[in-house]
Amino acid sequence: MPVPDPSTPHTLIRDDRVHRSVYTDPAIFALEMQRIFGRAWVYVGHDSQVPQPGDWITTRIGDQPVLMVRRNDGDIAVLHNRCPHKGAQLATAPCGHAERFLRCGYHGWTFGFDGSAGAIPLRDGYDAAALAADPDALRVKPLARVAAYRGFVFASRATDGPPLEDFLGGVRTSLDNFCDRAPTGRVTVAGGIQRVIQRNNWKVFFENLHDTMHPMTTHESSGLAARRLHRAMPEGTPKPFELRIVDGNIEPYPFWAALALKGFDHGHGWMEAIFNPPTDPTSLAHQAALEAVHGPDRTRAILSLNLHNTIVWPSGSPHTAFQQFRVIRPLAVDRTLIEIQTFRLEGAPDAVFERALRYTNVVNSPSSSVMADDLEMYARVQRGLQSDGGDWVSLARGAGRDTVFDGGVASTGNSEMPMRNQFAAWARWMQA
Ligand code: FES
Ligand SMILES: [Fe+2]
Repeated sequence: MPVPDPSTPHTLIRDDRVHRSVYTDPAIFALEMQRIFGRAWVYVGHDSQVPQPGDWITTRIGDQPVLMVRRNDGDIAVLHNRCPHKGAQLATAPCGHAERFLRCGYHGWTFGFDGSAGAIPLRDGYDAAALAADPDALRVKPLARVAAYRGFVFASRATDGPPLEDFLGGVRTSLDNFCDRAPTGRVTVAGGIQRVIQRNNWKVFFENLHDTMHPMTTHESSGLAARRLHRAMPEGTPKPFELRIVDGNIEPYPFWAALALKGFDHGHGWMEAIFNPPTDPTSLAHQAALEAVHGPDRTRAILSLNLHNTIVWPSGSPHTAFQQFRVIRPLAVDRTLIEIQTFRLEGAPDAVFERALRYTNVVNSPSSSVMADDLEMYARVQRGLQSDGGDWVSLARGAGRDTVFDGGVASTGNSEMPMRNQFAAWARWMQA
């Protein structure tokens, strides 16, 4: 097979394989920052993180440091985190609050919460005509487009492209279900945000989210340890939630094959499992709180949609059943920051939020034994891809058997369709 030309990145993708340079070449990473993270809608944060005017968070869209701020009119601004004077970052902490205006810590220029020009010390020392002629010289540059879906705030650096709702397409159902599980329909980020830096390319994380052939080997040791712990408990002890979550990873292959995988346009997707009505007190209290608002039929419709590891590409992975959003922030070709947000369902019993926190701690936190298994495998992939032992990475399982529907593709749970779907989106964005 001929060596692909790195100046035409879409040629690095075949129907059932991808060239290793998409994970290892810094030049391709730099192109991704321009062509994917510089154009697509990227999740910035949730509006509950900035409830009051002047509240702000800092984060990144691709390689761009940005600031999300609640404006005085209640809207949300997403600004480049850069002072127009000499370029200093306006904020460096993860979050904070400004009383009346944003003020640069270097020379004291100030700005409205929408980035508009404020006061400049010794303004009469500047040429007033020159300042008036270039309004961008005085304001903090906003991102080209900002839009929210059910409180999830996205921004795009491109002035054109599909509206956010069209970009999200079929995966909106998952974000709706995430919020509909709250009796009020509102969710709020709560309990702090955990952060993990992974030693792998950002796409390795996305591929793993629907890689149902890895848990029984990658998570074998943690799964077996959970089973041993339960067996050591007194006869008849119900399996604690944490142990159920960890040992569920070592279910046999037929369990995973029975999941339904959906891939939507633009690389999004989800895993859908069969719903078995739970009988534990937390789930029953949650169900009762929803039924008090919606009645039994609508409640059952909400709770029986059993989606796991939804992919909102290239932003991250919401998990509707346990109220997480793992947000992906690529740092370098072989380094990726994951921000793990946990949400409270407004109007639901506290026990539901406590369960979400337990899930975060058991599965997603830096101290999780499950996460440690995955991090080790991601690092091995990244190191293995440096080898000249082969140039191609296989995406072949189930190739040619995907079912196409309007807005996406479907497959059985053990297909590598989600990876192929993500790389189809990758190739489209990477076109010049
Ligand atoms: S760099 Fe911000 S005021 Fe000078
Ligand atoms: Fe895993």
